[in-house]
Amino acid sequence: MITTTKKLHTIDLQIEKLIKLEEKRQRDVLEMIPSENYVSPAVREAMGSVLTNKYSEGYPHKRYYQGNRFIDQIEDIAIARAKKLFGVPHVNVQPYSGSPANSAVYFALLKAGDTIMGLKLSAGGHLTHGHPTITFSGKYFRSIQYDVEEDGTINLAKMKDLAVMSNPRLIVVGTTAYPRIFDWKAWRETADAVGAFLLADISHIAGLVIGGVHPSPVPYVDVVMTTTHKTLRGPRGAMLMVTQRGLKKDPDMAGKIDKAVFPGLQGGPHDNVTAAIAIALKEADTLTFKAYAKQVVKNAKVLSETLTGEGLTLTTGGTDNHLMVVDFRPQGVVGNIVAEALEVAGIVINYNAVPHDPNPPFYPSGIRLGTPAITTRGMKEKEMKHIGTWIAEVIREVAHYRLPQAKEDRSKFVGSVKKELWRSKNLLGIASQVKKLCKQFPVP
Ligand SMILES: Cc1ncc(COP(=O)(O)O)c(C=O)c1O
Repeated sequence: MITTTKKLHTIDLQIEKLIKLEEKRQRDVLEMIPSENYVSPAVREAMGSVLTNKYSEGYPHKRYYQGNRFIDQIEDIAIARAKKLFGVPHVNVQPYSGSPANSAVYFALLKAGDTIMGLKLSAGGHLTHGHPTITFSGKYFRSIQYDVEEDGTINLAKMKDLAVMSNPRLIVVGTTAYPRIFDWKAWRETADAVGAFLLADISHIAGLVIGGVHPSPVPYVDVVMTTTHKTLRGPRGAMLMVTQRGLKKDPDMAGKIDKAVFPGLQGGPHDNVTAAIAIALKEADTLTFKAYAKQVVKNAKVLSETLTGEGLTLTTGGTDNHLMVVDFRPQGVVGNIVAEALEVAGIVINYNAVPHDPNPPFYPSGIRLGTPAITTRGMKEKEMKHIGTWIAEVIREVAHYRLPQAKEDRSKFVGSVKKELWRSKNLLGIASQVKKLCKQFPVP
């Protein structure tokens, strides 16, 4: 018999040890990257189940492989739960992740060379929203990129003018680093003014939409894409949803989307992920989850107020959702150095461009942080105040560092600053306070 019942630690000590270390790291730090979260043990159980052994190319009850009678039921359940939760007539749960899901929408509804309009990466958009030159969305489509105002907000009147000027076939609305609410109705009017398809990419805010703390795009857009692993708190995956409006516009839209996912872009779905999505959707269809989503937003508000109270600048002046972007142009330090210092202090975030950033993308002027994961641990307003104060303390500690003017000196400089930071008594002192706080709020 080739298979064995041996557990990981008897087979691969190296990987087992690294997983254990990562588990401990996730426990001992404040995970504040806004696209991350902690899934439930039930979601993890499904991810690690025997479903990973199965092949099921095709869709429920129309597979290219035998032995799918249970997989069919699992996928049917996932689809039914998503339809109910988001109020949509058609759902595809097979996209491997958010990027292939967005690609599938473009391939379903557009021809190569058609015009798409999406938010610039540096303004908070995603690579798949038409980022030029280096991504499929910027290479195979004519990409019109919109920007935010100096204060970081989207100017809807300007968006309409840009759409009328550039006549896109599809407009994508959704972001990775935008702290404000989307006005879906205004975007619909813009899309209608030029006859464009409207795609809402709610990857970041899906959980907030379910919790009723962000308006749903469903009444206004044609297609909704969401990843399942951010505020939705499911496994790494994605869903594509066609709305009533989308079906009215093109009765074959659901079929086109499904064909673009399989066989257009993908082969067999990851059935273990499908099951985990179904479980996450069940967990999200509860009052407890709705309360969680509300708390995520409340926490972000308190954290943003604490940071501004400490004299820090946030893009758009604050937040309405789960995340915020701190702008270090007033201090002059780069985001990389702050991000490393925060990690030394046990607070994990990511460096990020700010709108109209004068610095290059690898040394941007900001950081992005959010509250989904720490709220999953049960932290509330009181903890946000502590965390905000620590973050401000860390920033003060490193605000004097300046990136060298000469490009060739930058990497060495940042490298040596990082080494210094890991020896900083002040930062390590904060890390031990963070660890104490984390102990009171266990991870799922
Ligand atoms: C708005 C948005 N769309 C798409 C994606 C892509 O998702 P994935 O990383 O799963 O490919 C992301 C991921 O960060 C995102 O934030």
